[in-house]
Amino acid sequence: MLNIAIAGLGTVGAGVVRLLKQNAGTISSRAGKAIKIKAVSARNKGKKRDCDLTGIDWAEKPQALAEMEDVDVIVELIGGGEGPAKQLAEAALKNGKHLITANKALIAAHGIELAKLAEASKVQIAYEAAVAGGIPVIKALREGLSGNSLTSVRGILNGTCNYILTRMREGGLDFKTALAEAQKLGYAEADPTADVDGHDSANKLAILAALTFGSKPDLASIRLEGIRHITPLDLQFADQLECRIKLLGVAKLTPMGLEQHVAPALIPKKSPLAHVNGPLNAVLMRGDFVGDVMLEGQGAGAEPTASAVVADIIDLARGRTTPAFGVPTKDLKTLPTARGSTKMRYYMRLQLMDKPGVVADISTVIGSEGISIESLIQRGKPSSGAVPVVVTTHEADMSAMHRAFEKISQIKAVGLHPCLMQIEE
Ligand code: HSE
Repeated sequence: MLNIAIAGLGTVGAGVVRLLKQNAGTISSRAGKAIKIKAVSARNKGKKRDCDLTGIDWAEKPQALAEMEDVDVIVELIGGGEGPAKQLAEAALKNGKHLITANKALIAAHGIELAKLAEASKVQIAYEAAVAGGIPVIKALREGLSGNSLTSVRGILNGTCNYILTRMREGGLDFKTALAEAQKLGYAEADPTADVDGHDSANKLAILAALTFGSKPDLASIRLEGIRHITPLDLQFADQLECRIKLLGVAKLTPMGLEQHVAPALIPKKSPLAHVNGPLNAVLMRGDFVGDVMLEGQGAGAEPTASAVVADIIDLARGRTTPAFGVPTKDLKTLPTARGSTKMRYYMRLQLMDKPGVVADISTVIGSEGISIESLIQRGKPSSGAVPVVVTTHEADMSAMHRAFEKISQIKAVGLHPCLMQIEE
C-alpha cells in the first residue's frame, strides 16, 4: 500500500481523487500495490466538490499533512511559487516524504533547493503535471531520450495563448475578443496576465531547458514577450508567408551558451508545431541520435493534469525513480546565457503613411544595420488610414534587428504599434 495525502482540491485535486477511484484496479496492478488517499487538505471544507471524499481524513492546514506518520507521499496541488505550497514542499521533503507537484512556478524558481532537500532525505520529487499538463514530456526528456545529447527544445506551452491565436486566425477576432472567449470557456484565468504575457510558458520552459541540458533552471535569463500586440492582420500576413503565429518557448544551445526565449513567432506551415491548434500544447525535442520527437496533447484541465499526477504516483509506488532534474544536483551545469547573439529571420509589420520615400527610409535603416531584406509586402491602401507593410529579412543578428526596429519605430511616417517577430526554422 502507498499512502498519499493531497493538498489542494481545486480542479486538478478533484480530478486526481476521481481518477484514483475510477481506475483503481488498473492503477494498483500497474503500481504493484494499492494507492490509498489517507488525507486531504483544502481552503474550504464545506465547498461542494466534484469528487467523493468518503473515508479520507481532512486536515485544516496543509502543513499538517507533512507531519502525518503514515503518509508516504505528499501531492502538492495548491499552486504558487511561494507561500503555503513552498512551505509544504519543504516540510514534506525534510520529513522524509516524497513530493509530487503540478506547480511549475515552484519547480522553476526553487527546484534546485527542493532537489537538494530530497537528496538529503533520500526521497523523490516528481512533477510531470507541471509542464504541458497531460503530455508526458518530463518522462520523455528524463528517461525516454536520456541516451541522447539534446540540442534544443521548443514548445507551445500555454493553451490559453494557443486558443487565442487560433481564434484570431480562424475567426478574424481581435485579441480582446478572443481572450474574452477563452475566459468564457474556462481556459484563461480571470487575471490572464500569467498566460498572455508569457510568464506561465517561461516557468515551463525553464524546467524543460534544465532537463534538456542538464543545467539549473534559469528563469531570469529567459527573454519574454507576450501576445497582446498581435493583430488579426499579422495572422493574415503570416498565412500569406506560409506560416502560423504561435507563442513559442525555445531553449537551444549556441556557441555563445544557452539561448532561451518565450515570444510569439512565425512558424512555417511545414513544421509540425504549426498545426497544433486550439488549447493544445506540444513540445518538439531534438536529440543527436533520435532526431526530432514531438509530443502533442492537452496541456491543462482536470483530467489531463490528473493523468500526469497519477503517473508520478504509480512510478513512486513501483520504485521507478530518477533525480529531480535527471542527474544529481551536484552534476547540474550553470550554462552561460547567449543573449542577442542568435541569428534569426525576422518579420516586421508596420503601418505607414502613404507618402513618397517612406519605404526607402525604412530600407536605409535596415541596410545600415547590415540586415538584408528578403521580401516586402504592401497591402492596397485602405479607404482611410495607414498602409500595412510587412518586411521579412534574411538571417539577421538579434541585437542589430532590434536596433533597426527601434529606429524605424521613431520615423514620423510609421504608425503606432509596429510588430517584430522571429521566423522560426
Ligand atoms: N493556464 C495554463 C494554460 C495552464 O492556459 O495553458 C496551466 O499552466
